[in-house]
Amino acid sequence: MEQTKALIDKLEAVSHLAEEEWISLIENRDSETAEYLFAKSQKWRQKYYGNKVYTRGLIEFTNYCRNDCYYCGIRRSNRKAQRYRLTKEEIMECCRIGYGLGFRTFVLQGGEDGFFSQEVLEDIVRTIRKEYQDCAITLSIGERSYESYERLFQAGADRYLLRHETAEEAHYKKLHPAELSLENRKRCLYGLKKIGYQTGTGFMVGSPGQTPKQLAKDMMFIRELEPHMVGIGPFIPHHETPFAKEEGGTLELTLFLIGLLRVMLPKLLLPATTALGTIHPLGREKGIQAGANVVMPNLSPTSVRKKYELYDNKICTGDEAAECRNCLGRRMENIGCELVTDRGDFAV
Ligand code: SAM
Ligand code: FES
Repeated sequence: MEQTKALIDKLEAVSHLAEEEWISLIENRDSETAEYLFAKSQKWRQKYYGNKVYTRGLIEFTNYCRNDCYYCGIRRSNRKAQRYRLTKEEIMECCRIGYGLGFRTFVLQGGEDGFFSQEVLEDIVRTIRKEYQDCAITLSIGERSYESYERLFQAGADRYLLRHETAEEAHYKKLHPAELSLENRKRCLYGLKKIGYQTGTGFMVGSPGQTPKQLAKDMMFIRELEPHMVGIGPFIPHHETPFAKEEGGTLELTLFLIGLLRVMLPKLLLPATTALGTIHPLGREKGIQAGANVVMPNLSPTSVRKKYELYDNKICTGDEAAECRNCLGRRMENIGCELVTDRGDFAV
C-alpha cells in the first residue's frame, strides 16, 4: 500500500508515470489508497476551480448514426431504435430554454448523421453564435475531416468532445467495426487541438475486455494529448447491442480514475457523467467528490429523451430541462458545491 501511495505522490509531483507504474497503481488500489488520492484530487480541484461546478446544456439533436460501435445503443444496426432528428428551430428552442435557466455552454451531440451536412451544421452553429454571443458552443458529432472541423470552428464552435474510447489498437478493434480506427480518432483529436478548439477526449471504464494495461495506455495517451476536457464514465450494456450480456464498469474504478486524472492534469475540465449517475443514485456527487468539476444536464425535449438511449436505464429521460437543472443544483449544494452560470472555460 505504501508503494501505491508513493506512486500517487510521484504522479502529483511529475504528472507522469511509466506504463508499469500505472498498471501497478491501478491493480493495487484499495479503499485506503483511494481516500489518499481523493484528498489530493479535491485539493487540486479547489485550487483551480474552488467549489464551483460548471454546467453544460446537452442537446442530443439526432440519434441517426452511420457507425456501428458495438457498445452503443444508437448504432446503425439497432433496428429497434426509434430514430429522430431535431429541426434547427427545435435546437434553437433548446438553447432559448437553456439560456433562461443559466446555461452558458451548449453541447450539440449526436450520431454521425449525414442529414446534417457541412452547410446545415455551419448554419446552425452560426445562428447560435449570433444569438448567444456570451455562450460557448461545443460539438460532439464524431469523426470528420480537418477541413470540416476548421470550418465549424470558423462558424463559431469553440469546443469539441470526441472520446478516444481506448488507446490500445487491439482493444479498439474489439469495440468497433473494421472501418473505424484508433489512428483516425487520434488524427481527429490532434487536428481539433491544432485548430484551436478546447478539446475533450475520454473513454468508457470497464468496457468489454479492458485490462489495467489498457487503462495505463489511456492515461498515457491523455498525458500526451493534454486535452482540456476528459469525459470518463462506466460502460453500461445496452440490450440491443452485441455487448448486451457483458458486465458493466464499476463506480469504484471510475471514481479512482477521475481522481488520478485530476492529480495528473490538475486544470482539467472533468465531467461527472450521466452514466455515473445511472449506475449509482449519488454517482455524480461522488464523481465531484473524487475530483470532477462539470455536470452536463440534458436540454433535449422530453419527447425525444428516451430515444437517445446509448445504454440501458439512462437517468433523467422523463424530466424537463428546468427540473434537471434544479435537481443538479440541489445535489451540488448538498455536497458543498455551487452550480454556476458561467461559460466554464479551461483555467489558465
Ligand atoms: N457520435 C459522437 C461520438 O461518437 O463521439 C457522439 C455520440 S456518442 C454516443 C458519445 C459517447 O457515448 C461515446 O463516446 C461513448 O463513450 C458513450 N457511450 C456509447 N455507448 C455507451 C455505453 N453503452 N455505455 C457507456 N457509454 C457509452
Ligand atoms: Fe454512432 Fe453510437 S454508434 S453514436
